[in-house]
Amino acid sequence: MTASKRIALSSDHAAIELRKAVAAHIKAQGWEVEDIGPQTPESTHYPKHGAAAAQLVASGKCALGIVLCGTGQGIMMAANKIKGIRCGVCSDTLSAKMIRAHNDANMLSIGARVVGEGLALEIVDAFLGADFEGGRHGTRVDMIKALED
Ligand code: RB5
Repeated sequence: MTASKRIALSSDHAAIELRKAVAAHIKAQGWEVEDIGPQTPESTHYPKHGAAAAQLVASGKCALGIVLCGTGQGIMMAANKIKGIRCGVCSDTLSAKMIRAHNDANMLSIGARVVGEGLALEIVDAFLGADFEGGRHGTRVDMIKALED
């Protein structure tokens, strides 16, 4: 399987069940999932899980990443500290589509204490189903990339 069909997936303890649901959902669509845990429900620290998934994307081992924590916010902040990552928290499907289409996001974050499983899976589908539109949006994404240097 090529990296173009591989998704990095991680969470903290607050989102383990939703992460498992997301993994099953996207595997059923033919994606290869690098689910890097955690596997047990003990309290853990979202920065390390967000960074680990982001490194799989930044290195090119995975094309995209999905991270989850209680609100989606902390793990998103950690993922965005890794160079090359553009990760957005989404609680609605329009935002999930648009972070791909306009912002060329390569990671999606979801809050398991914010959205239910049904909406979360629709958000995942909106994210994975959209493509970057380029053009003027490419100019703006290049400006984001320039801020990293
Ligand atoms: C864990 O209690 C919680 O703080 C975490 O899952 C997340 O919501 C942080 O942004």
